[in-house]
Amino acid sequence: MEGEIDMDKPYIFITRKLPEEVIAPLRAIGEVEMWPYDDVPVARDVLLANAKKADALLTMLSDRIDREVMEVGEKLKVVANMAVGFDNIDVPVATEYGIAVCNTPDVLNDTTADLTFALLLATARRIVEAAEYIKAGEWKSWSPFLLAGTDVHHKTIGIVGLGKIGQAVAKRAKGFDMNILYHNRTRNEEAERQLGAVYCTFQQLLQAADFVVCLTPLTAETRHLFNRQAFRWMKKSAIFINASRGAVVDEEALYEALVAGEIAAAGLDVFTKEPVDPSHPLLSLKNVVALPHIGSASIETRRKMMERSCRNILAVLTGETPEALVNTEWLAQKRS
Ligand code: GLV
Ligand code: GLV
Repeated sequence: MEGEIDMDKPYIFITRKLPEEVIAPLRAIGEVEMWPYDDVPVARDVLLANAKKADALLTMLSDRIDREVMEVGEKLKVVANMAVGFDNIDVPVATEYGIAVCNTPDVLNDTTADLTFALLLATARRIVEAAEYIKAGEWKSWSPFLLAGTDVHHKTIGIVGLGKIGQAVAKRAKGFDMNILYHNRTRNEEAERQLGAVYCTFQQLLQAADFVVCLTPLTAETRHLFNRQAFRWMKKSAIFINASRGAVVDEEALYEALVAGEIAAAGLDVFTKEPVDPSHPLLSLKNVVALPHIGSASIETRRKMMERSCRNILAVLTGETPEALVNTEWLAQKRS
């Protein structure tokens, strides 16, 4: 992170250690520095010091890219987030400073849908509990209701947030002969035709679904969308799955609903504070299956996300329009 900077070459800072072969196209056009660890987030002071001289930042969802970062980043032209979600970035501020914000949609749809469905199956069929049970030597005999869960096939799934990932989940649900309900800001008649998905209000969906699957992005409108009332609307037998962002859920309300038996179980890939504290009350419950935010975590997809982030940076630095631009207003007010 030290050394001379060639004034003609753009300076690109990457907030995690990524494979050299993936970032080679960036090295070809610029001076590239990386935070040297892949399992520890960039230190805030290092991020700020590098933002100060950077033309481009390649960031992770665990980095808070707020006004402070963009204010010091006097030359900053692009923040390329290696995620489809971008709630870690203050997008209006980026636009104000003429900074492009890019993400990695599409390449992770199927991978994230696979994980979401795996979490749904694992929660319904008590897979994690069963795997722990056998390894703990507790399996003494076959018995009629040993680790009996609940069926997935032919049940009703309610998808909140029918974007591309939500549609990929619906496709999987169709293969399981599920009845598919969805709620979204805008109706998607194409998905209704292709997947047989039925549009509902939020409340109708919660009241009818056996599996409530949250895939909506985190915004001011969706923060704590799943509150105590939402869980009360659900069936007592309902299973709640969250694969979007933790803060879409009021975790205290979820805990209370699970303890009070207002819903049956939850499968969570995301938490309000990540990494979640191991002493978090939700992790103490047997009917909670928890995963460490691994929705898009296949080697193939993570590489594609890295490549896409690099392409987004290359485009902006070479004066092109990036493939995945979040703040389209940027086109009218980009920094040169
Ligand atoms: C992961 O959560 C992502 O937004 O890509
Ligand atoms: C992503 O979160 C989506 O809604 O597809």
